[in-house]
Amino acid sequence: MKIFLDTANLNEIREGVAWGVVDGVTTNPTLISKEEGKFEKIIKEICRVVNGPVSVEAVSTSSDEIVEEGKELSKISPNVVIKIPMTVDGIKAVKKLNDLKIKTNVTLVFSPSQAILAAKAGADYISPFIGRLDDISTDGMNLIEDILTMYENYSFKTQVIVASIRHPVHIVEAALIGAPIVTVPFPVLEKLVRHPLTDIGINKFLEDWKKVRK
Ligand code: G3P
Repeated sequence: MKIFLDTANLNEIREGVAWGVVDGVTTNPTLISKEEGKFEKIIKEICRVVNGPVSVEAVSTSSDEIVEEGKELSKISPNVVIKIPMTVDGIKAVKKLNDLKIKTNVTLVFSPSQAILAAKAGADYISPFIGRLDDISTDGMNLIEDILTMYENYSFKTQVIVASIRHPVHIVEAALIGAPIVTVPFPVLEKLVRHPLTDIGINKFLEDWKKVRK
């Protein structure tokens, strides 16, 4: 399973990379808006720090403009993957960018039918948002399961990035059904480490070590 960090915060990205478990980064306009500094400089620095794909979202809405924006963004670094919202224009742009060998990630995916179209258009990645489905009382992980089955049925090459992850159980459930990639907010990555019995165990060992004659 690959772990991407779902953030544009360089401190979080540097720390995650230092753990040695980060395979890529995903950003979106909301995440970028939380950071200080110029957009291009932030992306350039993220790409310097991370040895893997870095998704950057196009904000144009017509297919021709998305393609032009994608071409410009892809010049920032070879790591850049163009994140494109799931619309008709988005799908047309994915096809054109695919022909230009520019990598794409179709985002804001909420249904199996959207996932079929993204794969047919040649998307390298898709990002189904499971947390936002859970928020409206729909099981987001069922969507991931369905998409994985459909992609396997037809050997589609598009890779599923489980997105909108809210807690560690999402990651464990994604791993149990074989999702290839999860994109994780840094606070959730930190939660993967913690267990109260680990802390109790460490304290006990350190206390007992004091009694050992050296
Ligand atoms: O990459 C975008 C996605 O992960 C959004 O998550 O928490 O805003 O639904 P969230």
